[in-house]
Amino acid sequence: MLPPFPETGKIEVPSELARELCAAAERLPLYENREFYSPALQMHVLDQICGDCRDGFDWLINLIRDRMAEQPYCALVYGLQFDEGNRLFVALNRAFGELVARPYEKPRAQLVHYIEPATDIPSSRGGRESERLHTDTADWETPVEFISMVCVRADPDGGGRSRVLDIDSVRDEVKNQLGAEILELLEREPVPWQLAAYRGGGLKWRPVLTEHSICWRRYTIDLALDSNLARLSRRMLASLDAFEEVVSTSARTIEFLMREGELLFSDNRRTIHARTPITEGASDRLMIRSWIRAC
Ligand SMILES: [Fe+2]
Repeated sequence: MLPPFPETGKIEVPSELARELCAAAERLPLYENREFYSPALQMHVLDQICGDCRDGFDWLINLIRDRMAEQPYCALVYGLQFDEGNRLFVALNRAFGELVARPYEKPRAQLVHYIEPATDIPSSRGGRESERLHTDTADWETPVEFISMVCVRADPDGGGRSRVLDIDSVRDEVKNQLGAEILELLEREPVPWQLAAYRGGGLKWRPVLTEHSICWRRYTIDLALDSNLARLSRRMLASLDAFEEVVSTSARTIEFLMREGELLFSDNRRTIHARTPITEGASDRLMIRSWIRAC
């Protein structure tokens, strides 16, 4: 059994503050999801909610920031009450940077992104891509710094449990199981990443690991290699296979079930994440997610 989310990363919001934050959000007009693409509107929503309950809002943001700065580089927040129009969610995210997304294309892409089993990408290697540990936006020139996610409805059968593995654990596992040489290779030798067509396409070369960060989505490297515009040595290809095996079987991965109203913030440079499988067609699991460009 994998270890649960560590107590040190959890934050419990007092019920009075939760009520105040939700009430502040509800004093704002309702906005269309599409309108939230505007950084100015995001900032307006932040200013209004933060202005209405400054001390409590700052207390919460500082705690999330502190938790994300420490292993396992994510924070799990309990006790919040969210408004129907995602205004509180946008404000909390905007406190860490600008919310960014793929261009609007409902239901696959929205700024406040709705994650449902039906919109998951099937993996050519079986299952769903979201079941393999990865960083988000590996197909962007510079991947986003933070991800946040709220559980709206958990899977009734207990599927879709969240998994997170942090960079320090990844480095330890690689060093212990594959050796310092492979660790050094993964830091030193860049690999090709196929950039998203909606970001202009092309390839970006960058290593999988640095001393303090990780970028990992095998699928995105495979797309670059399939394009025939990039090649890797046999040694590097074998190292990527071995790396994938090590991270996907690590006993240091934490696993936990997010329940309704719980909010997860994670550092997308220092964690990889996945979810456990969900029974196809039987689940109405719904999560909302946002990508945050730190600024
Ligand atoms: Fe993801």
